[in-house]
Amino acid sequence: MISLIISSSEVDRVKGTASREENYWEGHYAAGGVSGEGSVGAIRQWKWDQIRSIVGEVDDFVDVGCGDLSFWDDRLPPVYTGIDISETIVAKNRERHPEATFIVANAAVPQTVSGRIVLCMDMLFHIMDDETYRGILTNLGQYSREWVFVYTWHNNPFEDQHSRRYVARKLIRKGRIFSSIKARAGSATDFDYQTYRRFEDYAPLITDQGFSLVETRSEPAIERWGALYVFRRESR
Ligand SMILES: C[S@@+](CC[C@H](N)C(=O)[O-])C[C@H]1O[C@@H](n2cnc3c(N)ncnc32)[C@H](O)[C@@H]1O
Repeated sequence: MISLIISSSEVDRVKGTASREENYWEGHYAAGGVSGEGSVGAIRQWKWDQIRSIVGEVDDFVDVGCGDLSFWDDRLPPVYTGIDISETIVAKNRERHPEATFIVANAAVPQTVSGRIVLCMDMLFHIMDDETYRGILTNLGQYSREWVFVYTWHNNPFEDQHSRRYVARKLIRKGRIFSSIKARAGSATDFDYQTYRRFEDYAPLITDQGFSLVETRSEPAIERWGALYVFRRESR
């Protein structure tokens, strides 16, 4: 099946303007930023234990929103394609891993890549617009020959009183009074680079391509908001 979704970010590209995600992440990595807390320590170990126990051989991956590869502790599998919107981080990855394939692209724009296992970890809650979000999920299904793993929020962190106050204060400091009032009242976004969506509502974009959602695993003792969604292609 060929994906015909044209994302707003693709429109941005054609118009020669950068998308919101590209601006944010390019600036973040160019300033020496890292991929984040989900890519290190106990939560990384937990994610790895789950993936390994499910797929058996760690052989052939497409990694969508690959970031700085700290998730891999710099040990890539034999066949690896990483896709990321930040040119800076992809240039660094290419230098360290000339044996792997890297693509600089908005993940909503379809690529001709394929892997037995497709990963999209800690990226979807950074997608602000719905069209891009839907395009990315469609592409995950397109790229995978067997497994799709998505780690994203399954609880809305902005429902929490403490987070609401934190986000509202941040927005006030930026002079964004209206957004700050909305954040204080409770919202599904920080109005900057994080948005909560109920992932289950969008999972059909993958299951309608011949996959089953076989498991949803979480480990609240290590990480309160996220879950690992596991899709497997149904045998034909
Ligand atoms: C929090 S980091 C996670 C990196 C990696 N998946 C991990 O778990 O360590 C999110 C990554 O998604 C990338 N990203 C954000 N929006 C993107 C988009 N629309 N297309 C491709 N990559 C994107 C960012 O550049 C960043 O590297």
